[in-house]
This record gives sequence, C-alpha cells and structure tokens, in this order.
Amino acid sequence: MQTVAVTGGSGKLGRAVVDELVEHGYRVINLDLAPPRHDRAAFTRVDLTDYGQTVEALTAIDDRHGGVDAVVHLAAIPGPGMATNATTFHTNVAISYNVFASARAAGIRNVVWASSETLLGLPLDTPPQSIPIHEGHQPRPETSYALAKLVDETIAAQFCRWDPELKMIGLRFSNVMEPGDYARFPSFEQDPMLRKWNLWGYIDARDGAQAVRRALAYEGKGLEIFIIANADTVMSRDSRQLAAQVFADVEITAEVTGTQTLLAIDKARRLLGYEPQHSWREQS
Ligand SMILES: NC(=O)c1ccc[n+]([C@@H]2O[C@H](COP(=O)([O-])OP(=O)(O)OC[C@H]3O[C@@H](n4cnc5c(N)ncnc54)[C@H](O)[C@@H]3O)[C@@H](O)[C@H]2O)c1
Repeated sequence: MQTVAVTGGSGKLGRAVVDELVEHGYRVINLDLAPPRHDRAAFTRVDLTDYGQTVEALTAIDDRHGGVDAVVHLAAIPGPGMATNATTFHTNVAISYNVFASARAAGIRNVVWASSETLLGLPLDTPPQSIPIHEGHQPRPETSYALAKLVDETIAAQFCRWDPELKMIGLRFSNVMEPGDYARFPSFEQDPMLRKWNLWGYIDARDGAQAVRRALAYEGKGLEIFIIANADTVMSRDSRQLAAQVFADVEITAEVTGTQTLLAIDKARRLLGYEPQHSWREQS
C-alpha cells in the first residue's frame, strides 16, 4: 500500500482528493492548518509556511507515518483577492518552496501539485493567443496569485533538472466545483461575459481528484504540466459560437463541437488517461 501526504487535504479540492485516493487503496496523511470535516484520512496540523514543520511532516510524524511515497500538494491561498497581493504571493511561494524542498530532503520523487488556469492569462481582458487554450501557450499571469503559480512551475522545472529521477506534475486546474455549486450554473446563460474570464471552464472536484490519482500513477520522470478541466463548459450554448462572439479576433485552431471545453484537455487524456466523469448537466 502506498502512503501519500496530501497538503490542503481539508480544503475543497483536497476533500475530493482524499476520498479518491482512499477509495483507490492509498494510505493518506492529510497535512493542513485546518482540521478536516470528516476523518477519511489521518490528519496532522502543519503550518506549511514554516520549513521546519514541513520537512518534519514529510519525513516522519509519530503515530502517523515513518516516511511517505508521494506528495500531493494542494495547500494555498486559493485565489486572488482573498488576501492582499503580497501576502498571497509570499504565502503561496513559501508553502510550495517548502513542500518541494522538503520532498527533496525526504527523498520523495513523486510530487503532484495544484497549479492553476489563472496563469493562462485570466481574466482574459487581453484575449488569448488562440482558442482552445492549451499547454503550448505562453504563461501570462495577470495577478500575484497567478504569478506565484508560475514561480511554482519554475521551481519544479529546476528541481527536476537537479534530480533526473524526480517526477513533478503540475495540474493547472480550472475553477473547482462541488455538486452543490451546480444550482447556479443556469444563471450564467443570460450573459456570456459572466464567465468569459476563464473561457467558461470548470472542473468538478471529483474529476480533479481523478486527475491527481492518474498523475500519481504516471510513470514518467521530470516535469509535466497539464490543463485539467471538464469536457464541457458551464454554458448550454455552442462553444464555437460563444468564442466567436466574445473573442471575435481570436483564431479557433482546433475542431470544437457542441459545448466542448475551450481549455484543452487533450494532453491529459493522452498521457494520463484522464476522462471527466461528472458534467454539471447531469446534476443540476
Ligand atoms: N478553487 C479553485 O477554483 C482552484 C482553481 C485552480 C487551482 N486551485 C488550487 O487548488 C488548490 C486547492 O484549492 P481549494 O479550492 O481546495 O482551496 P481551499 O482553500 O478549499 O483549500 C486549501 C487548503 O489549504 C490549507 N492551507 C492554507 N494555508 C496553509 C498553510 N500555511 N499550512 C497548511 N495548510 C494550509 C487550508 O487550510 C485549506 O484547507 C490550491 O493550490 C489552489 O490554488 C484552486
């Protein structure tokens, strides 16, 4: 049985990740400042802004573990505007550096973490270079939150260069949704500008968790980055028509049919075998 430390396991995405990993036979240790709502996994309170606590938490904790096989790193201030810009940047970069460096110190070579769609240029006040947006697009952070996510990816690239045996997978999640969030989706319909900021994308927390599980099992080495969104948008209107209406000057460079996502998930499908299972359309 593999033991996985999940940072931020008490949070919105973390709860789904803990459930998914436990259901698939992993032993999970949840490292978080806040206690979980349910005891699906062993919990230890850790402030990940403190390197000493972080390195200990990934090395050994009495009555919890004597070493873990992998780390799923989700803990962060999870968006812009929730704290001041500098606090968001300093906190999130410190947490990620501490987790990545502690994993290195503890000899853990399987690291999966939450990057973000925001570094793709959200809120897209400057239109994207083409549609769908894919991993080949240049990162274009527009907030200190997104800038910190780009710093995480930069640190990960260098850590992988330092250690060719290390695998680090950054999942650029779209906007995370739980089933209770779907009741408000029909209200997005009236105004295409309401959700243009992320090309009408979303990720069901359970599908996000599926991506995490598949990333943990992925056998490659080095850094890989994936966009993780659902297969459809939040809208009932045709995606191609929406894109043409709101981003009239942007070229649509791939076949897009029906309500297909405009945040490309082809790479995740191809390399991870990721396939979203939970569309809001079947649940609202
Ligand atoms: N929510 C979204 O729409 C979204 C989209 C893309 C990426 N992400 C990323 O996914 C991850 C999870 O987001 P979420 O929506 O579940 O957020 P969340 O706030 O629900 O969960 C984050 C967890 O991190 C913990 N945490 C924060 N600071 C900590 C610290 N110093 N030490 C230990 N734990 C700490 C919090 O207690 C919380 O339980 C984050 O990295 C976020 O940036 C979220």
